[in-house]
Amino acid sequence: MKEPILSGKGLCKKFGETIVMDNVDIDIYAGDFTVIMGPSGAGKSTLLYCLSGMDAISSGEVWFKGQEISYLPEKQMAKLRAKEFGFVFQQTHLVSNLTLFENVAMAGYAGKTEEVHRRANELLAQMNVGGAKDRLPSQVSGGEAQRAAIARAMINRPGLLFADEPTGALNKSNSQEVMSLLTGLNAQGQRILMVTHDVRAALRGNRLLYLEDGKILDELTLPNYGTDDDAERESTASAWLSKLQW
Ligand SMILES: Nc1ncnc2c1ncn2[C@@H]1O[C@H](COP(=O)(O)OP(=O)(O)OP(=O)(O)O)[C@@H](O)[C@H]1O
Ligand SMILES: [Mg+2]
Repeated sequence: MKEPILSGKGLCKKFGETIVMDNVDIDIYAGDFTVIMGPSGAGKSTLLYCLSGMDAISSGEVWFKGQEISYLPEKQMAKLRAKEFGFVFQQTHLVSNLTLFENVAMAGYAGKTEEVHRRANELLAQMNVGGAKDRLPSQVSGGEAQRAAIARAMINRPGLLFADEPTGALNKSNSQEVMSLLTGLNAQGQRILMVTHDVRAALRGNRLLYLEDGKILDELTLPNYGTDDDAERESTASAWLSKLQW
């Protein structure tokens, strides 16, 4: 049987009296590119933050690699997050007075400096932004900055890469490039959990979850991206989404 790498069990999140996550059970499996979709305000970001320990749950449990992590002291959680989780957001959150290379290398958690630098250079090249590595974030395009942010998220070989609307601030061609890079990382074994509104981006995943009003209502399994016909994939997903009236 497949063992999940990350699980949420009976997750609830309240802001005051408002319930934004309502008894969510979710398992993330090794190898998968899992995508959470759903309307604005559904609780997608909240779920991602609660699973990654960036936000506290009101009740329930989160398990990562066989260990319960839901109520770890903040210091331990921060250490686990730095070592095991990578994050990509809509905004890059790159440090403005550091070059792209420095932004990536600075996030290297452990290991010899030369090793971190070597890996930073390698990742920046893999993300097609090696030529701009010595420029500041203000001196590169939005797509280049986001690609550097993905390199930064990958520097510690994270057990899980979380992405919240990674294409939300990008135009169509930059979105496609970012999604191709994420798909490539997944093909090399990187587990990814992504939240998106963008159906094109979601089609890169192989497991699509639909969240509404803080509940997972349905899921769709697709073949790994690139192993089936694009048009068929698109029609399967749009039939699924229209069934969900989205
Ligand atoms: N700090 C907070 N205090 C009160 N309510 C909050 C807080 N953060 C989020 N919410 C509410 O929780 C609900 C879920 O928010 P969340 O950001 O998870 O939605 P989302 O699905 O990511 O939406 P979007 O697609 O617009 O990013 C929303 O109704 C939001 O207003
Ligand atoms: Mg959100």
